[in-house]
Amino acid sequence: MTHTTHSPSQSFTDTAHLDRAGYDAMYAESLADPEKFWGDQGKILDWITPYTQVKQTDFNFGKVDIKWYADGVLNVSANCIDRHLATRGDQTAIIFEPDDPNDPAQHITYNALSDKVNRFANVLLSQGVMRGDRVVIYLPMIPEAAYAMLACARIGAIHSIVFAGFSPDALANRINDSGAKILITADTAPRGGRKTALKSNADAALLHCSDKVRCLVVKHTGDQISWTENRDVDVKFLMQHASPDCPPRPMNAEDPLFVLYTSGSTGKPKGVVHTSGGYLAYAAMTHKYVFDYHDGDVFWCTADVGWVTGHSYIVYGPLANGATTLMFEGVPTYPDAGRFWAVCEKHKVNQFYTAPTALRALMGQGNSFVENYDLSDIKVLGTVGEPINPEAWNWYNDVVGKGRAPIVDTWWQTETGGHLLAPIPGAVPTKPGSATLPFFGVQPVILDPTTGEEITTTEAEGVLCLKDSWPGQMRTVWGDHERFQETYFQQYKGYYFSGDGCRRDADGYYWITGRVDDVINVSGHRMGTAEVESALVANATVAEAAVVGFPHEIKGQGIYAYVTLMNDQTPSEALKKELETWVRTEIGPIAKPDFIQWAPGLPKTRSGKIMRRILRKIAENDTGSLGDTSTLADPSVVDDLIANSIYNS
Ligand code: WTA
Repeated sequence: MTHTTHSPSQSFTDTAHLDRAGYDAMYAESLADPEKFWGDQGKILDWITPYTQVKQTDFNFGKVDIKWYADGVLNVSANCIDRHLATRGDQTAIIFEPDDPNDPAQHITYNALSDKVNRFANVLLSQGVMRGDRVVIYLPMIPEAAYAMLACARIGAIHSIVFAGFSPDALANRINDSGAKILITADTAPRGGRKTALKSNADAALLHCSDKVRCLVVKHTGDQISWTENRDVDVKFLMQHASPDCPPRPMNAEDPLFVLYTSGSTGKPKGVVHTSGGYLAYAAMTHKYVFDYHDGDVFWCTADVGWVTGHSYIVYGPLANGATTLMFEGVPTYPDAGRFWAVCEKHKVNQFYTAPTALRALMGQGNSFVENYDLSDIKVLGTVGEPINPEAWNWYNDVVGKGRAPIVDTWWQTETGGHLLAPIPGAVPTKPGSATLPFFGVQPVILDPTTGEEITTTEAEGVLCLKDSWPGQMRTVWGDHERFQETYFQQYKGYYFSGDGCRRDADGYYWITGRVDDVINVSGHRMGTAEVESALVANATVAEAAVVGFPHEIKGQGIYAYVTLMNDQTPSEALKKELETWVRTEIGPIAKPDFIQWAPGLPKTRSGKIMRRILRKIAENDTGSLGDTSTLADPSVVDDLIANSIYNS
């Protein structure tokens, strides 16, 4: 296969942080002497007590232990706010663009951010939040979400953001697993002209939590909400009366900064733990180099703060770099499919970072929605979350970037804290669909999935692992270090296993081929098929369920559910609808199956294991290559499933 290669223009490279020689030299240095390299790079942050130790990491199963800058002391919020005040107090830190384009945008300066975060931190202290306590944040994309995160960091509390699209049950599970004492939410959340009743979701969730959990409510829209005395607290009111001075607490580099729940191939979501020093240094470094961020630029990442992308590239990376970061409350298609570009024009956005699923959806609406706006300030375009198909890549490049803006396809994960594979835009020519080359210090390897051996030829295909640690790596699973080791370090000994398949081409470029485990990627949202299955079987009508992904033109992958009903149930369209609604309420709208197929039986081995490979093929309408079905207990169920698949019925 040949691919067009796109090189950055000379004028771009001339003003970029790094050209090719610069990238090659820094990358070589990062591998030759990681201690020295990361020792130097850690100075991107301000330290209260400078570190003398840099890297103490062990990937050996049974002894996995990851520490960076272990004896350094810092405060993350002071790095994101206080250190900028002398030089850029009046510069905008956060631009808030509300859902309704007729409402005014807010420009929050670093001085104003400092005032809000200090007050918010004092509110948390007044509620008895102490160092190391967990605070769950269930907020829409409003500045208070950033204030809350930074306020936690200021006093050494650990935040755990739950995406505002998750259901009360999902929220309750995360509050309970993290042992949080505080939930921060808002009254209602406008998005795309509709409102989500966040506070009433929070009320429903708290029914399943300890009655000690307090609920801090941001009155954002002023909508009517129910109020529980002695539990609910009006944050804005308390902030008005709080002191604007809350000294940042000195924290150890390895003190947890946040827990973020993410889906895996088995069981319930895991609390991914990121710590303070290494995470922040890595977020800041990647933000600076991968987006070629320069002082004065306006940076916009369209992700939600409920995902890791929002943590690292709306809040922590940009603010650590003293950037202007844009927070958008709305959706790409409201009031019409030109909204992203209207916002880019309005705020003169220089770096724009979004997900392929959004691009695919907008691409289908026609080019006029883009062409109506002046996008000449855009310098770099980024994508994240899922593989980008060449059509979407080319559209992004030609129609949005007018061929002038390098596209950075960034591969990384909740677990990695920041980008691992991505082109440095002034240095590395891009190929549509490839995340190209590793960031500094990152050593990707491709292993043969059956032998676990490293494939050392340049051209290779297999599973993607990392050979050594980088500062932004997750440290553990909240409350379960065993699970951390088993998930990422057991299958391929001595490596971090990403769960992704990957190909390396003759130029050494990496091409992610998708998950090799039972995780699917729906509109860039990561979902464990096991989670959807357990939601389905929790319904009284369902005996058994198996969920797989299938290719979906806009979402990347869609959710295909095979459901076996209890004997006394009769299949009907109404029951399908009921089950769809059920999954929405158990997990959230993002988990709603696209298709439910009634399955009188599921293909199982004689030992009772469901053969998902076959279910995947049926869902992909690729039944010509089902492979060996001879080990099935009852091969005839396969014919029935094929005959009744969505393609044939
Ligand atoms: C997928 C999001 C291809 C991948 C930051 C990974 C990608 C999972 C890309 C992590 C990309 C992310 N190209 N696939 N550029 N970026 N992925 O934890 O399968 O929500 O393992 O982190 O998304 O999803 P997560």
